[in-house]
Amino acid sequence: MKAIPQTSSLDSTLALLHEGYAFISNRCDELGTDIFQSRLMLRPVVCMRGEEAARLFYGADGVTRVGAMPWTVLRLLQDKDSVQQLDGEAHRRRKAMFIDIAMDGAAVAALLERFRQHWLVHFERRKEDCDLREAANLILTKASADWIGIPPSRRDDVKLARRLALMIDRTGRPGPAAWLALVSRRRLERWLVTIVTALRDGSLEVAEGCALRRISLDYRDADGQPMSEEAAAVELLNLLRPIAAISRWVAFVGLALARNPQWRERFGQGQDDDIEGFVEEVRRLYPFFPFVGARLARSQDWLGYSLPEGSWLLLDLYGTTHDPRLFPSPTNFSPERGLTWRDLDFRFIPQGGGRPESSHRCPGEKITVEILKETVKLLCGILPLRITPVNADVPLSIIPASPVPAIRVGPDRAGP
Ligand code: HEM
Repeated sequence: MKAIPQTSSLDSTLALLHEGYAFISNRCDELGTDIFQSRLMLRPVVCMRGEEAARLFYGADGVTRVGAMPWTVLRLLQDKDSVQQLDGEAHRRRKAMFIDIAMDGAAVAALLERFRQHWLVHFERRKEDCDLREAANLILTKASADWIGIPPSRRDDVKLARRLALMIDRTGRPGPAAWLALVSRRRLERWLVTIVTALRDGSLEVAEGCALRRISLDYRDADGQPMSEEAAAVELLNLLRPIAAISRWVAFVGLALARNPQWRERFGQGQDDDIEGFVEEVRRLYPFFPFVGARLARSQDWLGYSLPEGSWLLLDLYGTTHDPRLFPSPTNFSPERGLTWRDLDFRFIPQGGGRPESSHRCPGEKITVEILKETVKLLCGILPLRITPVNADVPLSIIPASPVPAIRVGPDRAGP
């Protein structure tokens, strides 16, 4: 067995906070390896990148997400009662529910229709510029809450959008900033518990087939039991939060269009064939999740390295989607690469790899890609908006990343 290369520093937490998305790849490049050992928050960790590492995370048994993230990150993102914290048959069953809800063609079309309507209402009569990410966050919040089936009388969309954004914004910031977001999240969970309870005691009625009903009333685990109210609230947040979070990639779509006016012109002329390649390249190039964590429930041999049971592993998603062996000239924006989430491979992994039904791969890729495609159509064709500035930096040290200065959109005074 080969020895796993080690970093020289005692603990790399400060380096991670400083280098952000580049942390794992910087060390892999320095050490000439796709795997190294280090310490984060004083805990031993094995960092990995590349196709074979993704295969271990998304294709092997005995790899769990339990105990794989600092608790603030876990509580802000998936949370302890969520599908991501389940393994084996319990995971497969709960995941099947997510796949039914989020990957069904008619359901995705219904969400897109709501997104388009809220976008048009938001921008049609607008006279001033606004921050694209903030606007998209509010629009997506309204669209997803409608789609999930939460009655408008029971929600305050502006407050909901702010609280959902806070959960994502604060994941990369340990300490008081994250604690504040956790308090805000607790309030959302309590609000959702009251809705689930009302549905169960018959004091609230919602449409047949909506996600709220399927999670709260229809779902049964292997023992025939429904989810607890708290778990149902967590899973409802597992739809609301990531759908609103697509707003971060909406801002990157704006940046990509501003930087590549030739594509904007093509889409403006109705040449829609390449829109999917364009948004898939946005998902590859622009940063979102830097890495995911896992723990080994049993020891594994991986490419000649022995990984003991209990090992804490990090898979570099950003480094893998920027690996020149997989994506030549990885910093170039090239929609011609023809990437697609439908390939279910272990190379193009911005939202995980492999098969979603039998791994922890994201069930929301279809929704993400369709929303981004619709964004391109709206920005370039249906209701053209001016995008400023024409370029922006994307600092990799800040997790989650955003363009600086922020991308703004406003009325296109020159007209289409
Ligand atoms: C899982 C990223 C959108 C729901 C994941 C994972 C990643 C990810 C990297 C894998 C986590 C792991 O391996 O442990 C993203 C990004 C999104 C996005 C960057 C863009 C905004 C969505 C959407 C939904 C969703 C729209 C809901 C429809 C979930 C759920 C899981 C998950 C429930 C857990 C799956 C499991 O553990 O089996 N996501 N996601 N995500 N995502 Fe997404």
